[in-house]
Amino acid sequence: MEKVIIFDTTLRDGEQAAGASLNLQEKLEIARQLDKLGVDVIEVGFPASSVGEFEAVRLIAREFRRPTICALTLANIEAIDRAWEAVKEAEHPRIHVFLSASDIHLAHQLRRSRDEVLKMSQEMVARAKSYLDDVEFSPMDASRADPAYIYQILEAVINAGATTVNIPDTVGYATPQEFGGLIRGILDNVPNIDEAVISVHCHDDLGLAVANSLEAIKVGARQVECTINGIGERAGNASLEEIVMALKTRQDFFNLTTNIDTTQIYRTSRLVSEMTGFPVQPNKAIIGANAFRHQSGIHQDGVLKKSITYEIMDPRSVGIPSSALVLSKMSGRHAFKERLSELGYTLSEEALNRAFQGFKKLADKKKEITDRDIESLIAEELRTVTEVYHLDHVEVSCGDHSLPTAAVRLIGPDGQSLADAALGMGPVDAVYKAINRIVMIPNRLTEFTVKSVSEGIDAIGEVLIRIESEGVTYTGRGASTDIIVASAKAYMNALNRLLAAKKGGK
Ligand code: KIV
Ligand code: ZN
Repeated sequence: MEKVIIFDTTLRDGEQAAGASLNLQEKLEIARQLDKLGVDVIEVGFPASSVGEFEAVRLIAREFRRPTICALTLANIEAIDRAWEAVKEAEHPRIHVFLSASDIHLAHQLRRSRDEVLKMSQEMVARAKSYLDDVEFSPMDASRADPAYIYQILEAVINAGATTVNIPDTVGYATPQEFGGLIRGILDNVPNIDEAVISVHCHDDLGLAVANSLEAIKVGARQVECTINGIGERAGNASLEEIVMALKTRQDFFNLTTNIDTTQIYRTSRLVSEMTGFPVQPNKAIIGANAFRHQSGIHQDGVLKKSITYEIMDPRSVGIPSSALVLSKMSGRHAFKERLSELGYTLSEEALNRAFQGFKKLADKKKEITDRDIESLIAEELRTVTEVYHLDHVEVSCGDHSLPTAAVRLIGPDGQSLADAALGMGPVDAVYKAINRIVMIPNRLTEFTVKSVSEGIDAIGEVLIRIESEGVTYTGRGASTDIIVASAKAYMNALNRLLAAKKGGK
């Protein structure tokens, strides 16, 4: 059966989502999971955009030997050269050059003629080709461009050495029929199209990204660009899990397959959600909390009799843990480790020890430890940001007749103990003000959410915040059965990211 190449751009287009910023460790962690998932291509980033981005692409290019590692670049010589520097150590490197192609972009953004853009496209693909074999080209905003011009560009870039031609619906404007028609037009009108793979890259502004991608695949596209949980610029990209499961569940219709190990989907989705701080909506297809829950009596009755009555997929096929096993304070290290491995986590001995201590502490406060609690504990472990300041102690006093007051103690960069106190509008505000008096780095809190990880009064509270400093957003997360402590941890997490970024150039 023919295969569709799964090109994952979670680390590039996904990270372009407003408020999602990943540090190097987080990118590496996600790349490891994408590798386990079996994606064919990982688009890691835009090396010319910053030192941090260049480093991330270079490290991932060095570490991962199976998948193709792709760097995105603008169509100019310096950026292409930088992209090559970043990916050259990969076993399977790819450079992805893009340039606008619609008259709207040419007139209002590039201010270039069609002839100039055609020439630049060809020359820049040739430049990339001088370094490596695997070159992808994207005529940006293709779905709003004149199809005849797209055919011309594609013919030229394939002649210059492009091995993949990617058709982006950059602003999510196309409808499935139109987009499929464009792909058919390309197959019929680009004379050398059989020398390249046709790829598609759809955005979700009208909620049609997956439908457009599937229609293009049906017509003949053989690479699809997508992201985990559908995250990406604005309304996001086509969601990988939806495309892959549509191809698998409806193999009778598509007659195509992929290299994806679908049992890794749930775990990948949770990791990306944790790392980016974007929760997955409960009704999200494939991986939402309600995707396999049956509420109405008639549905429950049917599923109990035979799951096929109301379930078109087996939840285990996407890796949703089937075990209802609940751990408690009686559970030992072995049971904890077993559960972690069933959930798909492999931690180093050191990280396992720390997570186990966290588990024991939690089990003292909470009777039953669910999978979601464990995921939250592990997420703490994976929140690997170099700590400039460490939260050592936090204490608040508040109530309806007292002034919210907080005292905090941090361990500073040289190991010194730094304590201060402040009043605030509420306990969290007081804690943040006390921390600010020590750290003294100007920032603005733009988002604060608290949610409970599981049901029950003893549930872990997870706090997600975003702060802004000099136009850049930093995400911070913290978890604890005490939401004030979770809030303090989240703020420290965001501040440490800010400090690390200022030091590291991203
Ligand atoms: O949406 C888009 O057009 C892109 C290109 C860089 C492929 O992300
Ligand atoms: Zn895009």
